[in-house]
Amino acid sequence: MPPNRCLVILLCLTLYGLYYEATALGVNWGTMASHPLPPTKVVELLELNNFTKVKLFDADPLVLEALSGSKLGVTIGIPNTMLKSFNSSKKAAQSWVHDNVTRYVSNGGSGVRIEYVAVGDEPFLQRYGEQFHPFVIGAATNIQTALLKASLESKVKVVVPCSFDSFLSESGLPSKGHFRTDLNKTMIELLTFLTKHNSPFFVTISPFLSLYQNKNISLDFSLFKDTAKSRNDSHRTYGNSFDLSYDTLVTALSMLGFSRIGIVIAQIGWPTDGSANATSANAETFTKGLMEHLHSKSGTPLRPKDPPIETYILSLLDEDQRSIAAGSFERHWGLFTFDGQAKYRVDFGQGSKTLVNAQNVEYLPSKWCVVNNNKDLSNASASALNACSAADCTALSPGGSCSNISWPGNISYAFNSYYQQHDQSADSCDFGGLGLITTVDPSVDKCRFPVELRTSYSHCLHKAFLLRTMTLLVAAAILVS
Ligand SMILES: *[C@@H]1O[C@H](CO)[C@@H](O)[C@H](O)[C@H]1NC(C)=O
Ligand SMILES: *[C@@H]1O[C@H](CO)[C@@H](O)[C@H](O)[C@H]1NC(C)=O
Ligand SMILES: *[C@@H]1O[C@H](CO)[C@@H](O)[C@H](O)[C@H]1NC(C)=O
Ligand SMILES: *[C@@H]1O[C@H](CO)[C@@H](O)[C@H](O)[C@H]1NC(C)=O
Ligand SMILES: *[C@@H]1O[C@H](CO)[C@@H](O)[C@H](O)[C@H]1NC(C)=O
Ligand SMILES: *[C@@H]1O[C@H](CO)[C@@H](O)[C@H](O)[C@H]1NC(C)=O
Ligand SMILES: *[C@@H]1O[C@H](CO)[C@@H](O)[C@H](O)[C@H]1NC(C)=O
Ligand SMILES: *[C@@H]1O[C@H](CO)[C@@H](O)[C@H](O)[C@H]1NC(C)=O
Ligand SMILES: *[C@@H]1O[C@H](CO)[C@@H](O)[C@H](O)[C@H]1NC(C)=O
Ligand SMILES: *[C@@H]1O[C@H](CO)[C@@H](O)[C@H](O)[C@H]1NC(C)=O
Repeated sequence: MPPNRCLVILLCLTLYGLYYEATALGVNWGTMASHPLPPTKVVELLELNNFTKVKLFDADPLVLEALSGSKLGVTIGIPNTMLKSFNSSKKAAQSWVHDNVTRYVSNGGSGVRIEYVAVGDEPFLQRYGEQFHPFVIGAATNIQTALLKASLESKVKVVVPCSFDSFLSESGLPSKGHFRTDLNKTMIELLTFLTKHNSPFFVTISPFLSLYQNKNISLDFSLFKDTAKSRNDSHRTYGNSFDLSYDTLVTALSMLGFSRIGIVIAQIGWPTDGSANATSANAETFTKGLMEHLHSKSGTPLRPKDPPIETYILSLLDEDQRSIAAGSFERHWGLFTFDGQAKYRVDFGQGSKTLVNAQNVEYLPSKWCVVNNNKDLSNASASALNACSAADCTALSPGGSCSNISWPGNISYAFNSYYQQHDQSADSCDFGGLGLITTVDPSVDKCRFPVELRTSYSHCLHKAFLLRTMTLLVAAAILVS
C-alpha cells in the first residue's frame, strides 16, 4: 500500500475516533420492574448496542456480577434512604464501600470497571423537601474518605446527581439562571467538594419535564426542530429547549464561582406513554436531535465547543414499578420496552443506524385476563381500580396509548396487568368471578396488552424475600418463646 494512502486511512481513523469520542454515551439501567430482564441478558443488550457506560441506581449484587469482566464503565448508586446513616457514621460508609465497591473493583480483569459512586438519587428533588438534603454532603464526604482508605480514590469518583428542578430561571432567560434558593449553601459545599476531588457535576436536563410543567415552551422547541421559533437572551439566540436549560445551569454555576466545572448529563430522555406528548414518534425526534447536537460538538451559547463530558440516556428499559409521583410517563422512559425490544430507530453513531433487540427473551404463555362480558359488570370498575393500585395502568392515563379504549376494554386492561404481574396465576384473574382467561390477544391498535416475562431472576428475588421473611418469623418466634 502506498504510504500516502496509509496516512489518509490513519487520519480518517483518528478523525473518526475524535468525532465519536466527543461525549461518551451511556444509559441509565433501572431495575424497578415486576419482571426484570435477567441481568446477563441486559449486559448482552448493552454490549450489542455498543454502549460504553452504564449508570445504576443501586449496587445490586446480581447486576454487578453480570457486569463483571465487561468493558462497560459503571456508575453505582446509593439510594436516598441510606444517606442519613452514611452522614452520621464513617463506619457505615466504610462497610458500604468495602461490600459494594472494593469487592468488585479489585477482582483484576474479571472485576467491574466502577467509575463513579452516585451519592443519592436526585436527593434535591423539590418534592422531597428536606427529607434527604441535609445528609448529602456528609454522606459524600464519608464515602470519599472510605474510598481513600481503600486506595480507590483515583479510580472511583464521588458524585451527586442533581435534579432538573435544582436550578431555574423565573423569566425563562438562561442569563438569569440560579440554584433554588433553599439549596444555596448546600450547592456551594457540593461544588467545593467536587472541585477539590476533580469530580464532575452530575445533573438531569429534561426538556420533556419543562414542556410538561408548561414552562412557556413549544413542542417543536423541545424536539430540536429547525422550524421552532428561537428565543433571544440579549445577544444570544437559543434554538432549542436543551440549550436553554443547559445554559440556565451554566449561569447558576457561574454565579457561585464555578463557571468551569465539568458537567455530566446524568439523565436525559423522552418518555413514550402515559401522557400527552409522550409518544415513540416524539421520542425518536428528540433523541435524533440530541445525538446530532452532541456529535456536532457545538456546545451551547455559554459554553461553545464545550459539550458535556458524558451523557446518560434515560433510560434503557421501561420499568412497571417505578414511582409515578411525578406522572404516569415515569414508567415509560425506555429506549426499549420492558422486554428489551427497541421502540424506535436511533443512530447513536456507534456503528449501526438502528438499535439491536434483546435476544432469546422468554415470555410466559400467550394468555391474557379480560373481563367476562356475560357477568353483571356494575362493580367491575371498583375491581379495576383495585387492580391498578398494585399493577401498572399508566397506559390508561389521559394521553396514554390505551386512553381511548372504551369501557369495559379499560377494565380488561387493568385485569390483565394484574394477572401478568402475578405470573398468570389463575386466582389473580378471579376478581369476584368477573375475570376470564383467554388465549386471544385483546390488544387494539396502539393499545398493547402485554404478556410478562418468564424470569427466574424475579423468582430468585422472591425467594430471597421469602427467606428473609421466614428468618424474621423464626427469630420472632424464638424471641417470643
Ligand atoms: C451529619 O453527621 C454529622 C456528624 O456525625 C452530625 O454532626 C450532623 O448533625 C449530621 N447531620 C444531620 C442533618 O443529622
Ligand atoms: C452494600 O453494603 C452494605 C453495607 O455492608 C449492605 O448493607 C448492603 O446490603 C450492600 N448492598 C447494597 C445493594 O447496597
Ligand atoms: C441565595 O442566593 C441568592 C442569589 O445569590 C440570594 O438572593 C438569596 O438570598 C440566597 N438565599 C439564601 C437562603 O441564602
Ligand atoms: C403537550 O405539548 C403542548 C405543546 O405542543 C403543550 O401545550 C401541552 O401542555 C403539553 N401537554 C403535556 C401534558 O405535556
Ligand atoms: C414566553 O416565550 C416567548 C417566546 O417564545 C417570550 O417572548 C415570552 O417573554 C415568554 N414569556 C414568559 C412569561 O416567559
Ligand atoms: C433574535 O435576534 C435575531 C438577531 O440576532 C433577530 O434576527 C431575531 O428576529 C430575534 N428574535 C426574536 C424573537 O426577537
Ligand atoms: C457495534 O459495533 C460493531 C463493530 O464496530 C458494528 O459492527 C455494529 O454494527 C455496532 N452495533 C450497533 C448497534 O451500533
Ligand atoms: C356490588 O357491590 C355492592 C357493595 O359491595 C354489593 O352490595 C352488590 O351486591 C355488588 N353487586 C354485584 C352485582 O356484585
Ligand atoms: C384519542 O382520541 C382522540 C380523539 O379522537 C385523538 O385526538 C387522540 O389522538 C387519541 N389518542 C390516542 C393515544 O390514540
Ligand atoms: C374505564 O372507563 C370508564 C368510562 O370512561 C371510566 O369511568 C373508568 O374510570 C375507567 N376505568 C379505568 C380503570 O380506567
